[in-house]
Amino acid sequence: MSHADDHAGTRRDFLYYATAGAGVVATGAAVWPLVNQMNPSADTRALASIFVDISGVEVGTQLTVKWRGKPVFIRRRSADEIKAARDTALTDLPDAGGENENKPGADAADANRTLDEAGEWLVMMGVCTHLGCVPLGTSGDFGGWFCPCHGSHYDTSGRIRKGPAPRNLPVPVAAFTDANTIKLG
Ligand code: FES
Repeated sequence: MSHADDHAGTRRDFLYYATAGAGVVATGAAVWPLVNQMNPSADTRALASIFVDISGVEVGTQLTVKWRGKPVFIRRRSADEIKAARDTALTDLPDAGGENENKPGADAADANRTLDEAGEWLVMMGVCTHLGCVPLGTSGDFGGWFCPCHGSHYDTSGRIRKGPAPRNLPVPVAAFTDANTIKLG
């Protein structure tokens, strides 16, 4: 093999790894099941905390990760989404509870549901509280999530506003461990 061939091979390898690396960043949601399968036992999987890299999540978009067998929505809300959620009167909410494991007993004010004080980050189980379908993002009458199974509309805070679902989408135990990482569990 000539030096030129050698160099080309190295370059191909580099491009392959660079592309694979970018894929991991872009498809973070799809990576978790594979990571989970490498855990030693089902018991460990059920209890495990996971660390989610949120550095690639743009304002106004959502990352969905699989955790303990269920989808978790991690949304980086736009200013309009935050305002809509914070301007909503509690009296307009069918479920007045915050449904936030990090703030037991708090009411459903938006500030009691978000991970940060400014309200940019909202982390919720992506499971409709009616019968368990996965709601669609940026949808429905309130610009939040819409569950097409039986027509439940959630607002930009994940609170039920219309339809058969009885509860707000629950907020699991979650915390920032650094500016780019959220720990679930
Ligand atoms: S499961 Fe979502 S509305 Fe029925």
